[in-house]
Amino acid sequence: MDFTELVASRRSIRAYKADKPVDNATISEIIGFAQQAPSWKNSQTGRYYAVTTPEKLAEIKEKALPEFNRNNCKDAPALIITTFVKARAGFERDGSATNELGDEWGAYDLGLQNQLFILKARELGLDTLIMGIRDEKALREALSIPDTEEVVAVISLGYRDIDPDMPKRKATEDIVKFF
Ligand SMILES: Cc1cc2nc3c(=O)[nH]c(=O)nc-3n(C[C@H](O)[C@H](O)[C@H](O)COP(=O)(O)O)c2cc1C
Repeated sequence: MDFTELVASRRSIRAYKADKPVDNATISEIIGFAQQAPSWKNSQTGRYYAVTTPEKLAEIKEKALPEFNRNNCKDAPALIITTFVKARAGFERDGSATNELGDEWGAYDLGLQNQLFILKARELGLDTLIMGIRDEKALREALSIPDTEEVVAVISLGYRDIDPDMPKRKATEDIVKFF
């Protein structure tokens, strides 16, 4: 599959095969690949909490996801919680923000990294759903995520059990201005 086909084949998947697990080595391969993403001064502040054991999966789904997202990832064999280390990307050595975006640069870098994550997963035949609607405090508590990190997305990972069409995209001329 070439890159264009790979990107076109990725969809947000909200139903997974219950009988197909994902092993930790595969998750490490995907995260290692995503680590090639560019980042602010190569600060590499993205962090990953990979959940695959049945007990912890059940706990996260129950405590940290609202009902609709719990259903979206009901049979997903892995949940990857992504965070970034605060006050590094977008900051100077003296701790001051380089510009008005501050820690938003950390979220920007994590997004770049997570884009590679979801595309590498697709290349390996896996599918994902990024979930931004989640309970940050419940995740922090369940996974002992320190206050030095900002909790961002929960990404479900597994094998698709549906084949949705691509939701409509805006026309290019509506989102670009040339000067
Ligand atoms: C930052 C972000 C947060 C999202 N949060 C959710 C979510 O909480 N629940 C959900 O079902 N989909 C969520 N999505 C998936 C989007 O709805 C989806 O990407 C969009 O509709 C386009 O569909 P596609 O990914 O299949 O191209 C999220 C996507 C992104 C990038």
